Amino acid sequence: MQIIRAPRASTIIYSLLIDLGNRSPWLLPANICPIVPITFLKARVPFHFVDISAKTLHMNLEQAEALIKKRKFGGLLYAHTYGEASTPNDFFALSKRFSPDLMLLDDRCLCAPDLEADPANKADVQLYSTGYAKIVELNFGGYAFIRDDIHYQAAHLSFNPHHHEEIEKDLKKSLEQRKRLNQVYASILPAEIQLPDGFQTWRFNIRVKNKQHILEKIFSSGFFASSHYASLADIMDDDRAPHAETLAETVINLFNDHHFTSDQAEQVCKIILENLV
Ligand SMILES: Cc1ncc(COP(=O)(O)O)c(C=O)c1O
Repeated sequence: MQIIRAPRASTIIYSLLIDLGNRSPWLLPANICPIVPITFLKARVPFHFVDISAKTLHMNLEQAEALIKKRKFGGLLYAHTYGEASTPNDFFALSKRFSPDLMLLDDRCLCAPDLEADPANKADVQLYSTGYAKIVELNFGGYAFIRDDIHYQAAHLSFNPHHHEEIEKDLKKSLEQRKRLNQVYASILPAEIQLPDGFQTWRFNIRVKNKQHILEKIFSSGFFASSHYASLADIMDDDRAPHAETLAETVINLFNDHHFTSDQAEQVCKIILENLV
């Protein structure tokens, strides 16, 4: 694997798409961060959204497999919803068997960054970001481990090996802060609204019936929270992705990074408890 560094992860996606020079469409999960399909638009590479699975919250792999068997795609971008880190290696291997030229990009931008390539990972590209709101937030920077035989021409380089040392230093601090705030959320909020542990690193995620009302109460009390990601299937494509829509309709991401304190987390919990239905 070769390591690629760039000002942002999306720069790497863009350069890869341009270098590949293949105009076949890619498969993207419907709940992907909008900067990703925008990057595809800029590279003029078409894409098709695949819904997420209601069970795993990641791209529905049966749906993706059926599509790969039916027609030719240039690549598949697999994203880790809220940074849940498991890798579908069996699915990656299977996709390569059906479509050896399919580029598999494992988008790990919301996961805790790994400083070395995972040798067990069967994707062609393992992508990380250290931009705004990532687990390690340098406010810029992306890097990827890519297969040695993939030709990659970097557009611009501002992220250098020295930044890897910064990641190493910041990661420990970042994970400690997340652990501290997650303990607050996990101990105060009802277990049944919390997503499983694997989804709680990037932010602390809950699912509620009255998301909009609770968000309004959080903001009107002077705090903040987010609700990522809206399904893009009917915004940037002419399609629907019901499971991605359902997740987006119910999820609230509670902050657990250095922008938030334990005291704020406790107060946000109080607001949620007062407004849960
Ligand atoms: C899953 C995912 N992939 C890619 C990106 C793009 O990363 P960058 O901001 O470093 O371009 C983001 C940004 O939030 C993301 O959430």
